[in-house]
Amino acid sequence: MAKWREVCRADEFRRTKKFVHRRKEVALFKLDDGIYATENSCSHEYSELSEGMIMGDDVYCPKHGSRFDIRTGAVRDLPATRPVKTYEVKVEDGVVYVKI
Ligand code: FES
Repeated sequence: MAKWREVCRADEFRRTKKFVHRRKEVALFKLDDGIYATENSCSHEYSELSEGMIMGDDVYCPKHGSRFDIRTGAVRDLPATRPVKTYEVKVEDGVVYVKI
């Protein structure tokens, strides 16, 4: 069952952060309206989306350039064809939590 896990203070990262809990890797992204989280691995091959480039609400995979909607995990550009999982995020008293 998913539980809220403390990640870090919200001001500890600028745009992206990788968070690992029991071998589960999560990528956190700071957008204009809040913080969002997806699984860290691209759905095409293994590549860390937390190392990707953010453009608008999308992240580009650093390996082959697939583009994912950070809010929904949907694929917006090939070669990936499957979405990435997203996770709930909350910020309380300046601390970021992700539900995994
Ligand atoms: S590993 Fe991400 S697009 Fe290929």
